[in-house]
Amino acid sequence: MNIIICETAEEASLKAAALIANAVRTRPETVLGLATGSTPLRLYQALIQAYRDGLDFSRVQTFNLDEYYGLAPDHPQSYRRFMNEHLFNHLNLKPENTHVPDGLARDVAAFCTEYEAKIQAAGGIDIQVLGIGSDGHIGFNEPSSSLASRTRLVTLTQQTVSDNARFFASADEVPRHAISMGIGTILEAKCCMMLSFGSNKAKAVRAAIEGGISQFTPASALQMHPNTTVFLDEAAAADLEMKEYYRWSAACP
Ligand code: PGA
Repeated sequence: MNIIICETAEEASLKAAALIANAVRTRPETVLGLATGSTPLRLYQALIQAYRDGLDFSRVQTFNLDEYYGLAPDHPQSYRRFMNEHLFNHLNLKPENTHVPDGLARDVAAFCTEYEAKIQAAGGIDIQVLGIGSDGHIGFNEPSSSLASRTRLVTLTQQTVSDNARFFASADEVPRHAISMGIGTILEAKCCMMLSFGSNKAKAVRAAIEGGISQFTPASALQMHPNTTVFLDEAAAADLEMKEYYRWSAACP
């Protein structure tokens, strides 16, 4: 794992965005794996700026990690709507090239198989953007998810329901289920980029980076991925035992 500790979330987001913009510039048909949540918002703003500055996204394909099960695409809290509002509507992506799991899929198993097949047909994900939940989840792969899991229907933990209640009128309205790419699916991305900001993530970040690989910290599976970069602000990095080494290593020519 390549650990990048920045003074601020702003700096970390811009670094991550620059890598993505560079990948799209170099290979216009780059396949991006995308995440929702507060964490990637600044990164998405920077990609929108890159588009305004001339970067072409017309051949890019995107696959989102997850979607609440039971929410229609136009529901105010659906991840499809989040992506449309915060990124897709502001780039020249072709709508048919943007993929978010269907929260209303009737035959969920068939939908999930098809989602994986579409990722394969696109040539696999080149760069997967990830946040991390305060319980260590990636996508909606909650603690106890199989490290070999594939896209499937999952049940949110009480912690995730409570973390995400801020977006709903009450915790009771937070869906209990989601369709999520699996950890095995995520690990097949050619490059993973995990971003994490703020002190409420410090414990999960430490477990993911410095703890043992365990299904109880799904993000720790990234330790087995050959090309993962973690972008942190100081607060999220606060509990890392080897943070001085990560800084030193990042500064080494
Ligand atoms: P957040 O969520 O970016 O809103 O903190 C991250 C996650 O739950 O994966």
